[in-house]
Amino acid sequence: MCGIVGYIGTKKAVPVLIKGLLSLEYRGYDSSGICVLENNSLEVVKDKGRVKNLEENPILNTLNGNIGIAHTRWATHGIPSKENAHPHLDNSKTFAVVHNGIIENYTDLRNFLENKGYTLISQTDTEVIPNLISYYYSLENDILKAIAKTIKDLKGSYAIEVISPLLKDKIIVARKDSPLVIGIGNGENFIASDIPAVLNYTNKFYFLDDLEISVISKNSIEFYDIDLNKVEKDVKDIEWDCASSEKNGFEDYMLKEIFEQPTSIMETIGSRLKPNEKCYFDDLKIDLKDINRIYIVACGTAMHAGIAAKYAFEHFCKIPVEVDMASEFRYRNPLIDKHTLCIFISQSGETADTIAALKLAKSLGSKTLAVVNVIGSSITRVADYTIYTHAGPEIAVASTKAYTAQVVLLNILAVYFAEILGYSSKELEDFKMEILELPDKVKIILEDTSKIQEFAKEVYSQKDMFFIGRNTDYAVSMEASLKLKEISYIHSEAYAAGELKHGPIALIENGTTVIGIATNPNLVEKTISNLEEVITRGANVMIVTNQELPNINSKLNIEVPKCNPMLSPILSVIPLQLFSYYIAKNKGLDVDKPRNLAKSVTVE
Ligand code: M6R
Repeated sequence: MCGIVGYIGTKKAVPVLIKGLLSLEYRGYDSSGICVLENNSLEVVKDKGRVKNLEENPILNTLNGNIGIAHTRWATHGIPSKENAHPHLDNSKTFAVVHNGIIENYTDLRNFLENKGYTLISQTDTEVIPNLISYYYSLENDILKAIAKTIKDLKGSYAIEVISPLLKDKIIVARKDSPLVIGIGNGENFIASDIPAVLNYTNKFYFLDDLEISVISKNSIEFYDIDLNKVEKDVKDIEWDCASSEKNGFEDYMLKEIFEQPTSIMETIGSRLKPNEKCYFDDLKIDLKDINRIYIVACGTAMHAGIAAKYAFEHFCKIPVEVDMASEFRYRNPLIDKHTLCIFISQSGETADTIAALKLAKSLGSKTLAVVNVIGSSITRVADYTIYTHAGPEIAVASTKAYTAQVVLLNILAVYFAEILGYSSKELEDFKMEILELPDKVKIILEDTSKIQEFAKEVYSQKDMFFIGRNTDYAVSMEASLKLKEISYIHSEAYAAGELKHGPIALIENGTTVIGIATNPNLVEKTISNLEEVITRGANVMIVTNQELPNINSKLNIEVPKCNPMLSPILSVIPLQLFSYYIAKNKGLDVDKPRNLAKSVTVE
């Protein structure tokens, strides 16, 4: 969590930094701050709360420096306050540092520094960093060496930027387990936690790897390992355009991203799936004959995508699949060996638990495959194989288009595996054609959202809601329930419809809203019976379906196009994403930046 940005060049640094911070605000918005090298001294401006508060500070207009670093914070150590806002300075005010990550041994380092006579004034873990640099600089008289020594002392995760009057025309950055990209300009260079923050200025990027350091001036970028040996790195061209990270006339990023789904699904299908051809993935040469079990591991929405896709792998490839939360998987000694394929799903490619789970799976000898949206992100550099969803930048904290792209891509992957394993069938061919039809079907759903808007208006003040379904409809219930919680702060639960009678039905009372998802022709009658049972107990029911329903006293039925049940999460989730969105809007909430959350969860 937290976002960092940096600029060095000939422009005034402040506007570039503020623009970058605004686009990184999804990573945290407890406080923000800037430090600019102004007439060879460090000028720091910070404020509590949103970047807007910082932007309105008149002092910023007086800063003309061309070198600067900035930070937007998701508080871990120390309350959200001006004192705890970054950048942090060392005692002599010679080194300014911004940091994304957590320094796990900061208490020891703080004690060490205090014993050496340093005074630390904030409650943060970060403040030890500029002071350690200062300490080692007093011994080494060389800033690069001082920074290398400092990061050798740090346990935990960090992406840091350092500026100093002593560095004059350079910014030094380093990272471990927190993202950091360097955008290459012409006579100027950019640093950011994430590509969209500087996509307005460049499409060419370097991705810093763990335990690497970079020394950046306006005309050069050098890389070193932690022992200060020079490292060569490749430039990556990023195809995203900057319009894709703007709101483009939509009120919120989330709404824009919901409406982008026909395109993001089409892009994700890309050339991997074509009518009457076998599926194709570049550079994916896994020996499947050797695999007897698949684990799908991820967090939050990405894990829900795994749950939705499990059915296609088991059905078409006949390989047992287990889906697990990365935060559990990493601590439960999973039964893994070289005959296991572990698939890790992540929009950001930076989720700390998913990275740790991936490292564990690798260490146990399994084959690892990452399904990621952000190109070049950390997970892609650890996994044996990576395939990308092409959803484009997802800015809203609530994931929408990344989820549908993940479910689509995983289903294509299941088909690809089935074809390699020799399980071709008419059913598989029909399934492929149905995948190709998805973008048009999503467009149909998005054509008219009025009924969902009206229902959201009726029920937005409720305290609890329930989502029920069976099979893949249950998978989508979980995702819909998470969406509602995270942006509307309404307590919600997802249940497998058949489980209701085993306890949860006790929670249903007059007026409780229950959303039923009923798209599986073999199970629709069962789910409808369960919905009847809650209606009898007074529930207000909305049903998302693509089936002929028996007569039922529901408040609203939302129709989605027919499709194979294994693909239905991709369609039936869309009205439910909109439902959460409109509920949150009715409550007057900040949809894109829900409280307590950040887009990338880069800490455990
Ligand atoms: O970047 P990742 O896909 O690894 O993120 C995983 C979860 O943190 C994420 O899906 C989270 O649950 C979303 N905010 C849900 O909308």
